Formats: sequence, structure tokens, C-alpha cells
Amino acid sequence: MPFELTEEQRLIKKSTREFSRKTLAATADERDRTKEYPADNLKKMGALGLMGMLVPAEYGGEDLDTVSYSLALTEVAYGCAATAVIMSVHASIVCGSLNRFGTPAQKEKYLRPLAGAEIIGSFALTEPEAGSDPAALQTTAVKEGDCYVLNGIKRFITGGATSGLFIVLARAPGSEGHKGISAFLVTPDMPGFQAGKIEDKIGIRASDTCDLIFSNCRVPAENLLGNEGDGFKIAMSGLDSGRIGIASQSLGVGMAALDAAVKYAKSRRQFGKPIAAFQGLRWMLAEMAMDVECARLLVLNAAAMKDRGEKCAAQASMAKLYASEMANRVTAQAVQIHGGYGVTKEYVVERLYRDARVFTIYEGTSQIQKIVIANDLLRDKAVG
Ligand code: CAA
Repeated sequence: MPFELTEEQRLIKKSTREFSRKTLAATADERDRTKEYPADNLKKMGALGLMGMLVPAEYGGEDLDTVSYSLALTEVAYGCAATAVIMSVHASIVCGSLNRFGTPAQKEKYLRPLAGAEIIGSFALTEPEAGSDPAALQTTAVKEGDCYVLNGIKRFITGGATSGLFIVLARAPGSEGHKGISAFLVTPDMPGFQAGKIEDKIGIRASDTCDLIFSNCRVPAENLLGNEGDGFKIAMSGLDSGRIGIASQSLGVGMAALDAAVKYAKSRRQFGKPIAAFQGLRWMLAEMAMDVECARLLVLNAAAMKDRGEKCAAQASMAKLYASEMANRVTAQAVQIHGGYGVTKEYVVERLYRDARVFTIYEGTSQIQKIVIANDLLRDKAVG
């Protein structure tokens, strides 16, 4: 560890680890099969303060730092990656953006129930024709009296069928690029809001992903987040935090796969001895451990920079890029070490391998993270 964790951070890590390995891990396989949303576990996490970690105490949150949050999210992901993505979008992007850009009235109305997980928050940026290029989004918002009227379709929205609050990005008609985009606080009871069919995904199956359809959806004007035209910057700064969350999630899954591989390699015997005795396996395990450790350092570095108030978009992207690719490498190697058993539902590595697949895609693909890193490098300064 390049820096020491505080007593409080160590305690948060330990207590979340106990909760996750006992409670979340217990139902993760079953939920993967049934796609059942972890509503009960999210309630428990709300009661433990895990969903409002980054929310100020005056709005019912825990007022904790990003390092503590990242440590907790990593532990949650170790037990259940699907629960971790719900926590990440809710806490990093939705609570974070509301706290940063919301009015006191918006925070009182929405941030307080979000902090206690009475409602879960989601982020609606992606559209059928605007994925890696969100500045091309087509959903429109037209001011009519005391409402904005939204029309359009959002795609692949985490929590689309279950969340109680959405930050929705929409543009003024006729505007182009990022300048005409605004952010809105939308709840599912607003007329003209509809969730589409839930996707049948390879992994992270207990977290619902679906379209949101806005047909003349009337959003009260006071639910504009920030100023008109601020939406793209709100989304991008939300994603800076979100990427630290997804990097933490990736780290937790990598750790779980490594632990499972070590356990299996010690117990599985071939050629008269545990397979852990063979150099080929030992080197694989050593490389996996180093990969996990590199990701951990990048994740904690980005989180610590955020806590110090430093610009950390590039470091968040580095952490997300490295940790998500690591999780894919390490889960694949863990399956390999398990041999034939690794591709059966009997062993957790089968699910971890599937869960990891989306990490290099959502909240910006690996290729997009490289754009963010290169932009920072070429725009500002020398590294270091
Ligand atoms: N913070 C604040 N503002 C930022 C910013 C940041 N991190 N990054 C860029 N901006 C601002 C810029 O300053 C610029 O503003 P000005 O014109 O006033 O200077 C404006 O935004 C546009 O910046 P760029 O020209 O750099 O933007 P771009 O259109 O070239 O896009 C990009 C850059 C990095 C490719 C961006 O489009 C991107 O991140 N794409 C990926 C989108 C993504 O991650 N989607 C994930 C969907 S959400 C999800 O997956 C959640 C889930 O459910 C799990």
C-alpha cells in the first residue's frame, strides 16, 4: 500500500467485507440465474450507510471520503458484482452529481432518500445512436410553461426498471454537440415515462438494464439539474467519479477470482500432487496477483486524488481501463486453472468470468478511456 489507510478506512473495509461475504455472496449465484433484483440487500446496505457514503451528513449521508467508498465498493463487488454496479451508479454518479450541482430543495427532496436507499438512483445518458459519443444524443427537452417536455429513447440504462430517480440528459431542439445538453431529475411516476424490456445479459444479471422511453414526458422545471446547457459537463464529471466506482467493482471481482483460483489450485490434485505445486500454475497465480495489485494501486491513487480535490479524470480513466482489463484477464485465468470445472455453474469463477465482461464496456469502453488519458496528456502538462 503506497499510503496507509486510516483506522476508519480499515474498519469500513473489514465490516463491508464481512457483510458482503456473508450476505451478498450467499444469493449472488441464485440471482444470476433468476435475474432477481437485490432489493432486500440494497435495503440492508442503506441501513449500514453504504448507499449514502458520499452524501453529506446534513442530507442523511455518511460524509465519507472516496477512498473509503472505493474500499467498500470493492468488497461489495467481491460478493456480488451486480449489486456493486447498482451501488456505483447510485453513489458515484447520481448522489455525487446531485450533491455537486443540485439546489438545496433538490437535495432535500432527492438526496436524502437516496442516502438511505429508500430510492435508488440511475443515470440515463446512452441512446441507440449515442453510446461512446454522448454529445450526439437526440432526446429533446422543450420548455413549456412550468415544465420541460422530454421526448426520446435511452438505452442500456442500469436500474431502468427499478430505480426511483434518473438523471436524464436531453438537448434543446435544434442544438448540436455538447453545448445544448441539459440534465433533468426524472422520477418514474412522471407522465410519459416508460421503462422498456429488460435485457437478457451475459453477466451482472441481477441488475436490470433496459430502455427508457420518454413520450411527452412532463418534468417540472424545478427539476433541471444545474443550468440549461450544463448537462454534458455534469455527465462527464459524474463519469469521472463513476469510473473510480467501476474500477473498484472490477478490482473486487479480480480479487474474488484470484482467491478462488488459489483455493482450487491448493485442493485439486493431479499427477499425485496439488496442481499448485506445478511451476506453470504458480507463475500464473503470481501474475494474477501482480495484476490485481497494480489495479488496486491505480484505483486507490485515483480515489485519493479525488479526495485531495485534484483533477483526476485521466487517473480515473487509467484505473477504470486497467482494472476492467485486469478483471477480464484474471477471471479468464481463474477459469483456466479450474479446467473443466471452471466452465460449470458449480464454481464461482464461471459467473465472475461472465460478470467481468461488461467492465471494459460500460461507463466508457477501454478505447474511450485511452482518449480521455491522451487528451489530458496532450492538453495540459507533462506526467508526474
Ligand atoms: N469534466 C467536466 N467537463 C468535461 C469533462 C470532465 N471530465 N470532460 C470533458 N468536459 C467538457 C469539456 O471541457 C468541453 O467543454 P468546453 O467546450 O466548454 O470546453 C466539453 O465537455 C466537451 O469535451 P470534449 O470535446 O473533450 O468531448 P467529446 O465530445 O470529444 O467527448 C469523450 C469526449 C471522452 C469521448 C466522451 O464523449 C466520453 O466520455 N464518451 C464515453 C461515454 C460514456 O462513458 N458513456 C457511459 C454511459 S453511462 C454508463 O455506462 C452507466 C451505467 O449504466 C453503468
